[in-house]
Amino acid sequence: MNNVVSARRIRGIGEYYFSKKLQQIDAIRKQGMEVLNLGIGSPDLPPHPSVIAEFNSAILENGAHQYQSYKGLPELRSAIANWYQRFFDCQLDPDREVLPLIGSKEGITHICMSLLDDGDSVLIPNPGYPAYETASKMAGADIIHYDLKEENQYQPDFDVLEEMDLTSVKIMWVNYPHMPTGSSGSHELFDKLIRFTRKNNIVLINDNPYAFILTDRPMSILSACSPDDHVLELNSLSKSHNMAGWRVGMLVGNQGLLETVLTFKSQVDSGQFKPMLKAAIKALTLDESWFGALNEVYLSRKHMVYKILDNLNCSYCTNSSGMFVWGKIPDTEVDAEHFSDMLLEEHKIFVPPGSIFGSNGKRYIRFSLCSPESVWNETLNRLNETR
Ligand SMILES: Cc1ncc(COP(=O)(O)O)c(C=O)c1O
Repeated sequence: MNNVVSARRIRGIGEYYFSKKLQQIDAIRKQGMEVLNLGIGSPDLPPHPSVIAEFNSAILENGAHQYQSYKGLPELRSAIANWYQRFFDCQLDPDREVLPLIGSKEGITHICMSLLDDGDSVLIPNPGYPAYETASKMAGADIIHYDLKEENQYQPDFDVLEEMDLTSVKIMWVNYPHMPTGSSGSHELFDKLIRFTRKNNIVLINDNPYAFILTDRPMSILSACSPDDHVLELNSLSKSHNMAGWRVGMLVGNQGLLETVLTFKSQVDSGQFKPMLKAAIKALTLDESWFGALNEVYLSRKHMVYKILDNLNCSYCTNSSGMFVWGKIPDTEVDAEHFSDMLLEEHKIFVPPGSIFGSNGKRYIRFSLCSPESVWNETLNRLNETR
């Protein structure tokens, strides 16, 4: 019998929703039925061929297999700084304001573990990416959700925020372009966030992995603040360069905060694989045409999702950004979990309920754009056959 008691920090943190759901999907597949998984945001398209070529040649170089620095290669930090200059109009010091990461998800945990103590509180968007909450809880902090509502275009209500007791709040997480709703950031919003967090002595962190996906133009919160502001931004090659499995991300911004995060990170990992870092440098040199081609594919898929949502009598907003479409279920349905279960049971189609991103998602479902056209056609066929 297993009598090992788990640590307090992970008690109450359930298994990640997708890992549980994938087991259920696997069980259905084992019964011989094909499930269309329209839920997971893992790009199905490949990275640029030059990125793969760079990886293949770098693997043969001397020293390719040795440990690397915790801060990645200096050339990678410079490539990140150049990328921020080119696309976001932000000036970054590659040695002091750039920290490469093993994906932005690891960065979320590192930030929480290095900045939060028991008794601190964290402002977390509802709905929002679940890792902000779990990482904050693992670090011992208390969660304060702030609402993002459709009627406010999923932007925070600053009057409500100002009314809150903020004395113990140390971090505010924001994520624009927002997952799961697709709401975009703006200079006005970033200015308000910076003023609010500056006034209340809160560290502001924008998680920005969807900066290039179906946006008018990429934006960084760092372009709206000064280097002394306690502002950080996470970014990632997972979605922008179809490199989710490679695990390359970055934390950029305030030098002092970055050093604190590095203190923790350097105790956890031993750097990344050098050929991968060199391939990431290559990816960061790609120009607008790469993003243009990528977005053409995503846009055409998005139109297929609109047809599916119409078929399901769901409503949706057509000016969203990012890799997902956020659909509102009909008023006649009980809630999104029932709706999602019905799609899986009756049609063998998996679309996650918005409730996994917070209580404000309970009347929504989230489609990922990471499936080829054939899957969208098959989805429509299945819905039409049974309706
Ligand atoms: C909002 C958000 N932040 C961070 C991540 C993690 O991305 P990465 O692959 O860089 O760890 C995801 C992944 O789906 C995400 O949706």
